[in-house]
Amino acid sequence: MYQPDRHSIEKANRFIAEKAPSVNAVMKPGFHLTAPTGWINDPNGFCYFQGKYHIFCQYNPCHSRWDTMHWGHWTSTDLIRWTWEGVALAPDQPYDCMGCFSGTAAVVGDTLHLLYTCVHPDTDGVVIQEQAIATSRDGVHFVKSPLNPVLRKNDLPPDGERRDFRDPRVYPDQGGWRLLLANKNERCGRQLLYESSDLIHWTYRGVFLQELSEMPECPDFFHLDGKDVLVTCLMNQPREGYRFQYGHHDVAYVTGRTEGVSFVQESLDSVDLGQDFYAPQTVLAPDGRRIMVGWMMMWGEATPPLYLDHGWQGAYTFPREISLQDGKLCQRPVREIQGLYGRQLCLERADVKGSLQLEGVSGQHYHLKLTAGDLYEPFSMHLKEDGTEYVELRYDPQTGVLSMDRSRMGHPVYAQPGEEAHDVSYLQLVPGHTLALEILSDTCSLEVFAGHGMGAMTSLCFPKGTGTGISFHGKGELQHVSFALLETKGVIG
Ligand code: FRU
Repeated sequence: MYQPDRHSIEKANRFIAEKAPSVNAVMKPGFHLTAPTGWINDPNGFCYFQGKYHIFCQYNPCHSRWDTMHWGHWTSTDLIRWTWEGVALAPDQPYDCMGCFSGTAAVVGDTLHLLYTCVHPDTDGVVIQEQAIATSRDGVHFVKSPLNPVLRKNDLPPDGERRDFRDPRVYPDQGGWRLLLANKNERCGRQLLYESSDLIHWTYRGVFLQELSEMPECPDFFHLDGKDVLVTCLMNQPREGYRFQYGHHDVAYVTGRTEGVSFVQESLDSVDLGQDFYAPQTVLAPDGRRIMVGWMMMWGEATPPLYLDHGWQGAYTFPREISLQDGKLCQRPVREIQGLYGRQLCLERADVKGSLQLEGVSGQHYHLKLTAGDLYEPFSMHLKEDGTEYVELRYDPQTGVLSMDRSRMGHPVYAQPGEEAHDVSYLQLVPGHTLALEILSDTCSLEVFAGHGMGAMTSLCFPKGTGTGISFHGKGELQHVSFALLETKGVIG
């Protein structure tokens, strides 16, 4: 219930300033975003405003677990070095007293608008979700509109569930604005479409796309390489081979085209098949690239920084450039990563017969690219290796399945009570004797891009040892190996 002064931006920022120095940073990523204290989940309001990229986060500053959501905030001019800007939104109003949930940003001239889900008890005590707006001229201090909530339960179609009506994705359309909202009825999940000319007054236009799991959270929507693309997070999606592996939360992209107020679907696939990828948002960079950032964690997990009481939990993926190739999503770390390169090493070829380590190829924070060729039997890499501890990346050229297994890590990722633990993830590639890999390693994570970005797997993995070893096992030939250690000092402010 609303208690005036229970939460405020000032209180949150004061708490962060006091507590940040005592956060245990040994497991903290070196070049991936994590909050100075506490918990983060979904990236929010990813945008480019007045010469800077802005990423906001679903944020609980006071605990390393999810609770009454604030929005935290970083900015960057280059997508690699980020400055913490403090808390942007606190749940300080009667209409958002139970949390400022996920949302997106719209830039109108010199004003940045944030649309977010405001959570509060309805008159009958049921906790409901409506939508609110806040604006800023300097990109740091936001003022909530006196007209909030700007989209209310009465704006739902008659069969719409008021408890699940969230995550506004706003985008410009024909001189006005369109807004997608995740919702469900008794039968299925769907995206609802609204329109507005001023971001304040919204008109319901219809169901944009339905039959999307039980509840398709966190929609993103954009035009990419000739198609419209809807990215959304499917809740309780039934398992389906390697496409939807987890049975609780999977991230899908749907390609197709907009026809009037609805979306005509052409294809549906997974975005990233690692255990730790959720709620991605994209931004259009000034040079026309579409850049994606996701939450690098998953609901239902208890990660070591939580159970070892380090005072933080949750991180974001490294920004990715995305494109469509033959209708399929292709993802690569943004090219700006070269700005973090330290010592580099290139090697044209090396034979693997049994086990091999390459001199100079080891470290905690690196960007490794290589092609493994001449593969006729299962081939594997050990990453973050130290003694008996390692993450196994294994490719079977007969089946084309690439798997990543973190079960030998010294600090396990546990499942929360009642949830399932997943230590192995699988990616189906086109079977063949060659495997192209690109790997980003940080203190506690691996992002693997395979087949020239046509498949991605992101997983948290927490070594107990140094976590620096890299070795190759099987029979084959390594080609075009390029390895760069990444600078991490002062990268995340
Ligand atoms: C997805 C999500 C969103 C919601 C937010 C709350 O991870 O459940 O649907 O807005 O997290 O923190």
